[in-house]
Amino acid sequence: MTVHFIGAGPGAADLITLRGRDLIAACPVCLYAGSLIPEALLAHCPPGAHIVNTAPLSLDQIIDEIAAAHARGQDVARLHSGDLSVWSAMGEQLRRLRALNIPYDVTPGVPAFAAAAAALGAELTLPGVTQSVVLTRTSGRASAMPEAETLGNFARTGAVLAIHLSIHILDKVVAELTPHYGTDCPVAVIWRASWPDQRVVRAQLGTLQTAIGAEMERTALILVGHTLGAEDFGESRLYAGDYDRRYRPVGTAPRFPDTAPE
Ligand SMILES: C[S@@+](CC[C@H](N)C(=O)[O-])C[C@H]1O[C@@H](n2cnc3c(N)ncnc32)[C@H](O)[C@@H]1O
Repeated sequence: MTVHFIGAGPGAADLITLRGRDLIAACPVCLYAGSLIPEALLAHCPPGAHIVNTAPLSLDQIIDEIAAAHARGQDVARLHSGDLSVWSAMGEQLRRLRALNIPYDVTPGVPAFAAAAAALGAELTLPGVTQSVVLTRTSGRASAMPEAETLGNFARTGAVLAIHLSIHILDKVVAELTPHYGTDCPVAVIWRASWPDQRVVRAQLGTLQTAIGAEMERTALILVGHTLGAEDFGESRLYAGDYDRRYRPVGTAPRFPDTAPE
């Protein structure tokens, strides 16, 4: 018996890995994390599967469900939105399972920030502009931020920020970022990236709040940084015609002569 933690992706039912889909189909028990998991994914469960929405459950109750499946010898598909490596609450479940000697494995998923960038048709790292993306959030009722992890500190680096769980305090986010990035810095808010009702607003830090209006939907990502919409950036040296590399040796004395194509 194994508990399969599966990144269910950002919302579109076909943005799950083939491995994740096949595991759902193979497990007689499916625990899924509430409204961010599309119902269509549950259609992959086998007939008669025991399907539980864990949104109203406590951690103890979730572990009880898993322990009961373990006692029955039934594999469990455990679905969380996006990828499991960020804000999935997987860590505390894994710790309990280790204590109970219940085996598990982890299948990654498409994270929300990647779906949001795709909605913009944007590469977030562009040569000569920005080479780092910070996945971050602001303090919430359930989780305080460590002292040094402020938006201001991250903004000082000039990296692109992918700010989660923060649309409800957009005014504070804008106020904290503007001194570092400037009012003309491009910003985008993407609600429910990849869902049928996806919405995108592009603006600058100085115009964002007017551009958004009174949007109430909370599942949104804020992307800020100078690569958004940039046209003035370098081309990657990797694909330059004169760049000598293992898979495309160039010149009379290439660095990797043995791998030169026939
Ligand atoms: C608890 S976190 C889950 C993050 C997830 N594990 C991931 O890999 O992206 C939920 C937050 O992620 C962001 N989010 C998740 N799905 C999203 C989507 N489809 N579009 C925009 N933002 C999304 C929102 O900021 C939301 O408040």
